[in-house]
Amino acid sequence: MHKKKNLLGLKDLSRQEIESILQQATLFKEIFNRPVKKVPTLNNKILVSLFYEPSTRTKASFDMAAKILGAGMVNFSVQTSSVKKGETLIDTVKNLESMGIDGIIIRHGNGGAPHLVSEKVNIPVINAGDGFNEHPTQALLDIFTMIEEKGYIEGKKVTIIGDILHSRVAKSNIWGLKKLGADVVVCGPSSMIPAGIENMGVKVVHSVSDAIEDADFINVLRVQFERQKGNFFPSVREYYREYGITTKRLKKAKEDVVIMHPGPMNRGIEISTEVADGPYNVILEQVKNGVAIRMAVLYKLLLRRTTE
Ligand code: CP
Repeated sequence: MHKKKNLLGLKDLSRQEIESILQQATLFKEIFNRPVKKVPTLNNKILVSLFYEPSTRTKASFDMAAKILGAGMVNFSVQTSSVKKGETLIDTVKNLESMGIDGIIIRHGNGGAPHLVSEKVNIPVINAGDGFNEHPTQALLDIFTMIEEKGYIEGKKVTIIGDILHSRVAKSNIWGLKKLGADVVVCGPSSMIPAGIENMGVKVVHSVSDAIEDADFINVLRVQFERQKGNFFPSVREYYREYGITTKRLKKAKEDVVIMHPGPMNRGIEISTEVADGPYNVILEQVKNGVAIRMAVLYKLLLRRTTE
């Protein structure tokens, strides 16, 4: 990653590069327990966060990560920018680069937008989620949380359940988890499983009971209503009945199963409130780990370390 200067997706990273980010995040997480949460290693750097889609967790945690590392963050609001006057994405990023910005964090509704930006600027570009394609920092924080919970990933069974088709989180998780040796199962209605996903090395299972059985981790995905053109299942009530993760369903799961969700959650659709707030969930721990992961990514990209 460091020689390439961008973080566009986990598809592009080696196992060693992924592990190096996770190790760095472990060091940074220790800082949260200190009274003074500051490691001013990026003191003279200024980043811009360019979010063409809404975000709570990713945007706030990148802001926080930059602050802890001493970097400045320019929060670019698409709604009040010249994008609204028709300025293109490329013109927008080239203008920001010419101001002396040191790095771009971008979320965009179109898959490949961060890749296009990275070809046009000479500063690091970090993908904060692009269309259905990838959300690399989410997958890194998910994997980091899994390792915290069970010590390692190799040979663990990870079930990703729900709207796989529209999920960039699923794609990045699959790239990362497979590189680290996990057994990955995807489960959901046939209409929400992308054709050919088996080629990524995952097993497709349509029965939720089968998918849950023996799983070490269940990563529950949000049903992405905003991306669906047409109906992918008859009704929300039926989705919940057939695919919703409930306490009753978890009776078939391992005693130490870990329940994850990238957020935002649709309670009562893909997950019950009882499970979302229940004893097996690590959902807010995932959010907390997001800050450490994003610190690690900013640190590695902006210091342009080339030793690994
Ligand atoms: N998980 C995730 O990307 O959440 P946000 O959309 O709130 O950033």
